Amino acid sequence: MKINTKKILAIIILFTLGIGIGMTIFEKPQLSQATSGNDLVEINSVNPDTNVVTKTAIEKSLYKASKRLKIGTAIKSKNLESESYKAVLNQNFNLVVPEYEMKWYQIQPEINKYNFSVMDKIVEYAKLNDKEIYGHTLLWYRSIPSWVEPYLNSLPEAQRGQALKTILKDFITTIVNRYKDVVKSWDVVNEVLEDFSRAKTPPSIYRTDNIFDKYIGSKDEYNIPEYIKLGFQYAREADSKAKLFYNDYQVEYYNSVEASYGGSIKSENMYNMVSGLIKMGVPIDGVGIQSHVTNSEKLDKQAFTKNNIQNYPLYKTMDAYNKLGLEVKITEMDVAVYQENSTTVNPEKLLEQANTYQNYLLVCILFDNCTSFTVWQFSDNFVWYGKNFPGKKEDYHPNIFDRKYNPKPAYFALLKTLSEN
Ligand code: XIL
Repeated sequence: MKINTKKILAIIILFTLGIGIGMTIFEKPQLSQATSGNDLVEINSVNPDTNVVTKTAIEKSLYKASKRLKIGTAIKSKNLESESYKAVLNQNFNLVVPEYEMKWYQIQPEINKYNFSVMDKIVEYAKLNDKEIYGHTLLWYRSIPSWVEPYLNSLPEAQRGQALKTILKDFITTIVNRYKDVVKSWDVVNEVLEDFSRAKTPPSIYRTDNIFDKYIGSKDEYNIPEYIKLGFQYAREADSKAKLFYNDYQVEYYNSVEASYGGSIKSENMYNMVSGLIKMGVPIDGVGIQSHVTNSEKLDKQAFTKNNIQNYPLYKTMDAYNKLGLEVKITEMDVAVYQENSTTVNPEKLLEQANTYQNYLLVCILFDNCTSFTVWQFSDNFVWYGKNFPGKKEDYHPNIFDRKYNPKPAYFALLKTLSEN
């Protein structure tokens, strides 16, 4: 047999490259959208049990590649005016989350005035395009309308706590009722746990910088602030069937040494709070792990497989909530890769970003109680970071598509992970 050394060499190089970068993706010659309606990508998958490599051509669609999980993204109603935005959205996601359209300040800009117009645009889009909507969010210290505090202060001090409960109940009841037929799950309570990236002495478990703490304040059995229970109760009274979630960030480090910022304290605090709520009979169905990964220095050097991911922080966290009988959602994932020149990002960093996205998704796939995987916007055009993030928003590149809607390595890593698992 004649040995073609050039061919063998080429195969070896290609194979090594494939293993080296953790995934091999060959873009097929573009099939025309007009004739196929599809955009295919060919993926080389290595089976972690057998090491057998298989080649598959799959459609570039995250949700179509997903066997069980809903694949979501946050959107703004305004984004729906852009055809190029909508093309990527329609193709890849079957769940949408309003980025601000359901927040209290937006829905109730004045004490006696409700405004549903922007949220209704998202509902109309979702119905027309068969997308699920995840409700976000009913009780959050950062979405309080500006009239609330002056209104409370206009009342005698002794009445303020009760007045806050009354207006909060009114808001929750109104919005949950209005969107009952399209919103089946809600982030009910968002971010009440103290953030240990901000040094606090002595550290408190719950945030104290907000009106709920200031005016309601009282703690229940298990030392949990009463407003948390009330949020869930008001939502349950408004919809007996909706799934109700607690949602927070930097809470995926349960029992983990590799924890972020203040260690795994916030993660333990969330677990303890949620266990307490369950014991108290508070109607909570699950937790949302936001998954804003903001520390570029701590991105994953390795993409794990189902055989070696058991010590990954999110895996341990998911396992803990699984044992509590709770549903879990990855609700707001993005992964910051800080680099000052926004047109070029270090390819190694992009790969670490891809690994991180991939590891989170893989954990979610492996646990039946994890039901959706959502990113917080999908293009680097839309970065939400506020004043706590120094520098320009454009320097963070946290999403899975670039500013021109080209898929980044993270996108292909997600696609591949969904199609293989
Ligand atoms: C952010 C939105 O993306 C911004 O557009 C808005 O100005 C502020 O809120 N955690 C949450 C989300 O739960 O509601 C936040 O969204 C991002 C952090």
